Amino acid sequence: MSKNPTKPSRHQTAQKALYLLAILSANAFVALFLSGASMLDWLTETRTMQPHNPQYANASLQWHISRPMRADHPWFDANVRAKDAINSLTRSQKKYMVIGLGERGGPCEGVTAAQPHINFKGFCLQDGPVGPRMIENITALPGHVNLAATFDRSLMVQYGEVLGTEFRKWGISVQLGPMMNLFRAPAAGRNWESPGADPYLAGVSASLIVRGVQSKGVIATAKHFIANEQEAFRTSSSSNVDMRTLMEIYMPPFEACIREGVGAIMCSYNLFNGEYACANNHLINDILKGPEIDFRGFVMTDWFASYSLTASDMVMAGRDNAGDTLGPDPLSVDGLDVADIPEERLNDMVERILTVYYHFRQDVDFPPHTFNAWIDRPKNVYNYNYEFKKNAIIAHRVGVAGTVLVKDDRRILPLKTASNLKLGIIGEDARLPRILNVEPGTAGGTLAHGTGSGTCEFPYIISPLEGITMRAKKQKGLQVLSYTENQDIAPARKVAQEADIAIVFQQANSGEGWDRKDLKLWAGGDDVIQAVADANKNTIVVLHTVGAVEMPWINHPNISAVIYGLVPGQETGAVIADILFGDSNPSGRLPFTVHKDRSEYAADVLYESKDTIPQIEYKEGLYFDYRHADKHNITPIFPFGHGLSYTDFKYSNLQVSRQTKSDPKSSLKVSFKIANMGKYDGHEVAQLYVKFPEAADEPPKLLKGFERVFVKVGKTVTVEILLEARELRVWLEGGWKYVAGEYEILIGASSRDIRATSVIKWG
Ligand code: BGC
Repeated sequence: MSKNPTKPSRHQTAQKALYLLAILSANAFVALFLSGASMLDWLTETRTMQPHNPQYANASLQWHISRPMRADHPWFDANVRAKDAINSLTRSQKKYMVIGLGERGGPCEGVTAAQPHINFKGFCLQDGPVGPRMIENITALPGHVNLAATFDRSLMVQYGEVLGTEFRKWGISVQLGPMMNLFRAPAAGRNWESPGADPYLAGVSASLIVRGVQSKGVIATAKHFIANEQEAFRTSSSSNVDMRTLMEIYMPPFEACIREGVGAIMCSYNLFNGEYACANNHLINDILKGPEIDFRGFVMTDWFASYSLTASDMVMAGRDNAGDTLGPDPLSVDGLDVADIPEERLNDMVERILTVYYHFRQDVDFPPHTFNAWIDRPKNVYNYNYEFKKNAIIAHRVGVAGTVLVKDDRRILPLKTASNLKLGIIGEDARLPRILNVEPGTAGGTLAHGTGSGTCEFPYIISPLEGITMRAKKQKGLQVLSYTENQDIAPARKVAQEADIAIVFQQANSGEGWDRKDLKLWAGGDDVIQAVADANKNTIVVLHTVGAVEMPWINHPNISAVIYGLVPGQETGAVIADILFGDSNPSGRLPFTVHKDRSEYAADVLYESKDTIPQIEYKEGLYFDYRHADKHNITPIFPFGHGLSYTDFKYSNLQVSRQTKSDPKSSLKVSFKIANMGKYDGHEVAQLYVKFPEAADEPPKLLKGFERVFVKVGKTVTVEILLEARELRVWLEGGWKYVAGEYEILIGASSRDIRATSVIKWG
C-alpha cells in the first residue's frame, strides 16, 4: 500500500504563509479575509496538509474484529437488525458506507451514500458544538467553556436539546460535537470549544450535552479522540502521554459520553504515543473498543485524518478535495486501498454504523436535509428569519449562568441605579462586529465565539452596548456614554472621566488551526483598561476571552469589579446587561485557573520544532491547572472553580455516609446545608473535592462532584451529592485499583475556598 503525499498548490502555499502571518499577530487574522481566501478554504487547506508517514503504511495489517454485542446491551435489537441488513449489502455498497463522499460531495460537511434497500438514508454530518454550522436560522449558543462554567447539569442537558432540535430540523443525522479536549495549555486555540481543565467536569458537561442531542434522535460525536490539546502541528505531532494520565485525565470525558450512549467518536489528527490516533490499534481496538470501556458506536476520522482502516470505522470526509481518489471499485482514499480490507472487518465497520443508525431510529422518521452548507452567504444579514425563540431563551440562560464574576471588592455590582447616573461603555469589544454571520472576532467587534469549525453563523448578536443601552432605558435618568473602539486612548479616557461608572470591554480570541501567541488581551486591551482605570475610580472590566488572560491591571485600586464573560454566543449583550443590573445574580465558576504569569501554568503550546513529527510530551502528567497549582503551592489570581455572587452563602452540616453500610467500597452520599445570608436570591455552585490517601499518589485534591442550587434570601437548602465509587478508582501498576485508607471530603465554593471537610475510612 502506498501513501500519496499531498503536494500543496501555489495558492495553498500562499494561503499557508498567510496563516503563519496571522498567528504572528493577533490582529493580522483579518488579513485572511482581506486576501479573499475564505475561512473555509483556509481550514480545508490546513486539514489536507498532512504528512503521510511511511511508517504507518502497513498499520492496516492488524485487522481487528469487535466482540459480539451482549444481549443486555441497550443497542442489542438494533445490532441484530444491523447484522441482518449487512447480509444484503454488496462489498461495494459497504465501502460507500464507511467512506464519505468528500467534503463537498453533498450539501453537508460530510455525507455517506444512502442504501435505500436497507432503509439507510446515508449520513449528513455537520459541525458543530455550538449550533449547526454554515446554515442560517439557527441558534448560536455560548461556547462549551461557558456551559462548563455554569456547573449546571440541567442547563447542560437543555443546551444539548437545543442542538438536537436544530440539527434535526435541518435533517442533520450526525452532529460533530461535543468537543472535549482539555485546557492543558492555556493558549491552545480550541480551548473555547472545550469544557475546561478538569476531566470530571468535562465528562459531566459533555455527556449531558450528548443526552440532550441524542434525545432528539440526532447522533452526537465525542471529539477529538485523543490528546489533541493544541493546534500548532495538529496533524503531524505526537502527543506522548503515560497510561495513568491517559486513563485518569484524558479518557474520562470520553468514557462519560460512552456511558451516556454516544453514537460516534471522532479520532483526532495527531499521533498518540507515536502512532496516528486514527490508526492506533492499541488505543482504539484494545482500549476504546476493549472489554472495559466497550465503545459500541463508530469511530470516524477527523476530516482527512485517515491513515488506516484497522481502527476507525468511517473515513471522513472521504474522497479528498483534489479529485477522484474514490473510484467505483476498488476504493482508495488518502492512499488507503480499501480493496485490501478483509470482508469481516468491513462488516464490523458497517455493523457499528448501522447499529447506531437503527438504534436512533433514523430509518423511521428522520427528516431529510434541506440546506446546502456550501453556498455563499451574505455577510451582513442581521436578525432575519429567526424562528427559535425558545432556544434563544436557553442560550440566554446558559450565557447568564456561565458568566463569572471574579472580583467585586467594593461591591460596586449590581449597578446601583440612582438617578442621573452616567455609565461609560468603552472598548471595541462592546460593539457589534462589522461583518456578521462569519466567525465573529475575526472582523472586529465583540467576541461571541472563537473561530474555526467550532463556530456557526449568527442569526443576530446583541452587542454589549446594545444590551446595556436597552436595559438602561428602563431606568429613569440613566445615561449611557460610549467609545467603542480600542484605537485611541484619548476618547476612551474622556468617556471614563465623564462617567460615574466606567465599564470597559476587552477580548482575546483564538480558534481551530491557531493557538494564541500569548495570553494578553488583544488590540492593546491592557492599555485601554489601565487608562480607563486611571481616569475613573469605579471601573468595571468585562472580558470576552477564549480562556485565561494575564491581568496586569488586576490590583489597580480603581478596578472594582471584573467579569469573565468568555464567549457567550448571540445573546451576549443581553446576558451582560442582566448581570450588571442585577436582573440575574451571577453564579458562574471558572472551569480553569487564571495565573498571573504564563510561566506559572504547567504546560504550554509547543510552537516550534524541527522534527518531522514534533513530540508533545505530556510530562506534567496529572498535574496541570489546579492540580499543578495545589501541588506547587502557587497562588493563582483566580483559582479553578472561583466565581462570586451578589449574595453570601454559608455552608454547614457536612455529612458523609456509605450508600451500603456493609460494603467498604460502596458509593458515598455527601450532604450539607447552604444558607443564603445576603441580600439577593441566587445560585450557589457547591463543589466536592476529594483528598485521596497518601498511597494513592494523587494530586492534593480532585473535583468529584458539584451541584448548582438556588437559595432565596434567608433560606437554607440541603444539598446531596452522590460520590460514585468509580470516581475513587486510581490507575496504579497498569490497572484500576481502590486504595484503602482515609479520604478527605472537601466541600467548597472553589478549589481554594473549602468551607467544610470530613474524613472517612473507605476501601
Ligand atoms: C475539525 C473537526 C471538525 C471537522 C469537520 C476538522 O478540521 O478538527 O472538529 O468537526 O473538521 O469540519
